[in-house]
Amino acid sequence: MEHFKTIIEPFRIKSVEAVKFTHRAEREEALREAGNNVFLLRGEDVLIDLLTDSGTGAMSAAQWGALMQGDESYAGSRSYFRFRDVVQELTGFSHVIPTHQGRAAERILFHTVLEAGQVVPNNNHFDTTRANVETEGAEARDLVIPEGRVPSQEHPFKGNIDLGALEKVLESEGDRVPLVMVTVTNNTGGGQPVSLENLKGVRALCDRFEKPFFLDACRFAENAYFIKKREEGQGDRSPREIAREMFSLADGCTMSAKKDGLANIGGFLALNDDSWAERCRNLLILTEGFPTYGGLAGYDLEAVARGLEEVLEEPYLRYRIRSTEYLHERLVDAGVPVLRPAGGHAVYLDARALLRHIPPLEYPGVALVNALYREAGIRGVEIGTVMFGLQPDGTEKPAAMDLVRLAIPRRVYTQSHIDYVAEATIAVAGMKEQLRGYRITKAPAVLRHFTAVFEPLPSHG
Ligand code: F0G
Repeated sequence: MEHFKTIIEPFRIKSVEAVKFTHRAEREEALREAGNNVFLLRGEDVLIDLLTDSGTGAMSAAQWGALMQGDESYAGSRSYFRFRDVVQELTGFSHVIPTHQGRAAERILFHTVLEAGQVVPNNNHFDTTRANVETEGAEARDLVIPEGRVPSQEHPFKGNIDLGALEKVLESEGDRVPLVMVTVTNNTGGGQPVSLENLKGVRALCDRFEKPFFLDACRFAENAYFIKKREEGQGDRSPREIAREMFSLADGCTMSAKKDGLANIGGFLALNDDSWAERCRNLLILTEGFPTYGGLAGYDLEAVARGLEEVLEEPYLRYRIRSTEYLHERLVDAGVPVLRPAGGHAVYLDARALLRHIPPLEYPGVALVNALYREAGIRGVEIGTVMFGLQPDGTEKPAAMDLVRLAIPRRVYTQSHIDYVAEATIAVAGMKEQLRGYRITKAPAVLRHFTAVFEPLPSHG
């Protein structure tokens, strides 16, 4: 079978969930009721949900089986030790602190080590990471390489941090930088990988300036597979070996196990520094739970432990990366503007390039997301000016890019689902002239994209 080139789903389906088909009029009504914000739709009213790859994956039979092994002891649960051992074996970090998801790990780390006025460099902060930095009165500074800001530009490691820019920040900001972060893969920048060489460069700078280096490791396995495929000299190594080397270059990580933990909930903070770990655990007890469960059930810890092993299996990663690339190829062939190359977990449509008649402050990303739902029942998400355009001082400016992310849940949809997504997206791109911008009529002060209410603007022409 190794002679055949078709890459198939590396699983068979044991349990299914029906999807609901709706009529266009029903979707229009649902969208209106949701204030034209797809975050406020009922999931049931969505046919193919590409809002996020976070917590939306299918667990394996082995994970469901592991759930039954969960030890629900409040303190010292057997499931914690299994979880800790798997995380330590993978990351090598001495302290493993479970949290209910990634942002809890971020909050605990940043609330513990950040002070107002400080600066956290990253390739690109994800929205919750940025918000957790800014909540402490600190600045989240994005230093992705210039190629990472141009959607149409190809680069094998478009998630790399600009080492020259990082060096300048470390020189000029000095003590104001408490730690350096790198997000693998770079979600905000298009699910793009970071090379081992780049991570080594960050390590060297952190050594020179005596700064701790943390990975935002949500999609570490996808990043490891890209390294295997694209970085010179890495092709013969296993994804696990590469992942271990990635972690070995850092001093700690925050992790959302809802992504490459293949679980529906869970996360962790892992780090080497004893005193930071002690302070983080004290905060954990206050807001998440005792250090051996951190807001998770024993069965969640089991599911994550098993998921962290499965996610590094090569047939899984080959299928995962290829299925995203397949959707990307179909859209590129049809001339739909997309961020290049394909990301690991998602395809990013370039809404700003497609909808040139809708200025960034009229949210081309929202216009495209809403059209995809209205026409096809597909739910994507805007990663652009609504998500990132609001400044801490309350003003608004265009984000670096206006993208629409079609994130692919892990092990959930088959190739025919993806064929449908391609056909529908191409059709919606073909009706671009009819799409209109939006204005916000109501929004909270932070993370506004989740709950803002939108009103369509009258057409210009
Ligand atoms: N870091 C990155 C790079 C992420 O993509 C996310 C979540 C988080 C941190 C926070 O993790 O959700 O478990 O609290 N990203 C999801 C997404 C929500 O849709 O991309 P969390």
